[in-house]
Amino acid sequence: MPDTQNSLPRHIAIIMDGNGRWAAAHGLPRSAGHREGAQAVRRTLEAAREMGIAYLTLYAFSTENWSRPPEEIDTLMKLLDRTLDEYQKSAHQKDYRILVSGERERLSAGILAKIDALTRSTAQNKGLTVNLALNYGARQEITYAFNRLLKAGLKEATPSDIAKHLYQPEIPDPELIIRTSGEERLSNFLLWQAAYSEFYFTPVLWPDFTKEELQKAIDAYRMRKRRFGGI
Ligand code: IPE
Ligand code: IPE
Ligand code: MG
Repeated sequence: MPDTQNSLPRHIAIIMDGNGRWAAAHGLPRSAGHREGAQAVRRTLEAAREMGIAYLTLYAFSTENWSRPPEEIDTLMKLLDRTLDEYQKSAHQKDYRILVSGERERLSAGILAKIDALTRSTAQNKGLTVNLALNYGARQEITYAFNRLLKAGLKEATPSDIAKHLYQPEIPDPELIIRTSGEERLSNFLLWQAAYSEFYFTPVLWPDFTKEELQKAIDAYRMRKRRFGGI
């Protein structure tokens, strides 16, 4: 066995893909795939917390996902609404701190109120920080940072100025980005933060993702030789 190169990642980001294909493979409607996907989210949060991961970013809904049929968007928003209720009840006991990255525009007033209540009420929790990428697009995020710098009157910006104006500037860049379902692309996820991330692609569909799969991804990451441009 080659030597382990890296310690446990502090921040893991996951592109949770494959709910629709999971449903099709089981002869079920896509909504059933999203429901199973929500179960996989619960499992993954528990697993990450048990493993001592500090930050977990989950890509839950992209700015491009609005192009899906209205019925599917409705299913996803209802599922999100219920998930926010559930975390409002359980986040304290599990010590999760919930943050959200994304645009507020187009989300319903009800969802926005639940997001605000949940982020406020878990702000002091010290366990796993869960960053939900919701109505998230990386180009939108960089544009958001850029516009805040312009409003502040900056004439010229450094990379660190830009990083400080992203949605969640205190979260370190993810050392590891996982994408399920066999697709190998970013789909407008964390373009800025992924500059030196390690990628792990697995054919496993998101509803089938388990603690063991997370462990495999972490083990693969720990063997990678990260060079950051050096030798
Ligand atoms: C991921 O599963 C969930 C979201 C993007 C909201 P998909 O719904 O993209 O599933 P596939 O890619 O169609 O299998
Ligand atoms: C990326 O998955 C977005 C989320 C997982 C929320 P998509 O299924 O939307 O990505 P594409 O369309 O295959 O690139
Ligand atoms: Mg998909």
